[in-house]
Amino acid sequence: MPTPQAVLAPLTESAIFLTLTLDESAPGVADTVRALLGDVGGLRRSVGFRIPEGELTCVAGIGADAWDRVFSLSRPAGLHPFREVAGARHRAPATAGDLFFHLRAHRLDLCFELAQHLVDRLAGVARVVDEVHGFRSFDQRDLLGFVDGTENPEGDERSAAVLIGAEDASYAGGSYVVTQKYVHDLTAWNALSIEDQERAVGRTKLADVELADDVKPSNAHVALTTIVDDDGTERAIVRDNMPFGRVGAGEFGTYFIGYAKEPGVIEEMLENMFVGRPAGNHDRVLDFSTALTGTLFFVPSADLLDAADDGAPGE
Ligand code: HEM
Repeated sequence: MPTPQAVLAPLTESAIFLTLTLDESAPGVADTVRALLGDVGGLRRSVGFRIPEGELTCVAGIGADAWDRVFSLSRPAGLHPFREVAGARHRAPATAGDLFFHLRAHRLDLCFELAQHLVDRLAGVARVVDEVHGFRSFDQRDLLGFVDGTENPEGDERSAAVLIGAEDASYAGGSYVVTQKYVHDLTAWNALSIEDQERAVGRTKLADVELADDVKPSNAHVALTTIVDDDGTERAIVRDNMPFGRVGAGEFGTYFIGYAKEPGVIEEMLENMFVGRPAGNHDRVLDFSTALTGTLFFVPSADLLDAADDGAPGE
């Protein structure tokens, strides 16, 4: 299998999430984007090699419209624009995004310098429409105060959940990434008792233990995001959520980022959360959380990304 990008890298203390749109009218857009994508690996090494213990990684994703504009290759099987999900009470909007960079390191300076290089190289052809600087909060808690990421798959199950294999052989080693920027109403959330918060999430707050099936409500977050195939196999994704915010502006957020080898798994979870399972039984966490963005990108293997400026994928 071709070498994947760093989609399997562990959570770090810092992350930058950069979403860009292409300027269709700018001359040479496709050439500039292909040249930059082919250099992402080299730029990451230039910044990261100097501080090896910082473990800087970068994952680049390409949206459906941009794929068609930049490459003459067929579209990867699961690549389409993010589809809005609208329930009776809550909505997951679809927002703009042609290119996406997920930068992770133990120190923000490494992410920041690499973000500068990436954006410099795209000057005149792309603009940043969303930039989020995520930070680790205590023991990997989100700003609702719950440990976030516990049930992520590990080991072989991790790669099996996120890496495309023989089912789309030309894009083996690739993946899909869905992102959503959420802001929380912490005043309303903190007015709940701890027990009510635990019933909303489906886990205990301090010890992070899953509630027993007979006490976990059917609208708990972890109940609605657990999906099982007809044959009983759980369909997993890998989440790398990070908190972000600005205290003075009263902004308290979770940047949701999920990787999967087929976006349908994440789409089914979103359907359960926003429309409800059954319809109307929506995710209780959404009563305190608003999705502001929603995007879907294809993440090519590192080999395909490196070849982007060789002419191979574009010509
Ligand atoms: C589990 C928080 C959005 C999918 C969890 C857990 C927390 C959490 C605290 C329990 C611990 C864990 O296993 O990680 C949040 C917050 C969100 C959010 C604060 C945004 C407001 C989403 C979205 C999806 C998702 C949009 C998918 C589309 C999952 C999955 C699990 C999970 C699959 C594990 C379920 C299990 O197997 O027990 N989330 N999440 N989450 N979340 Fe979320």
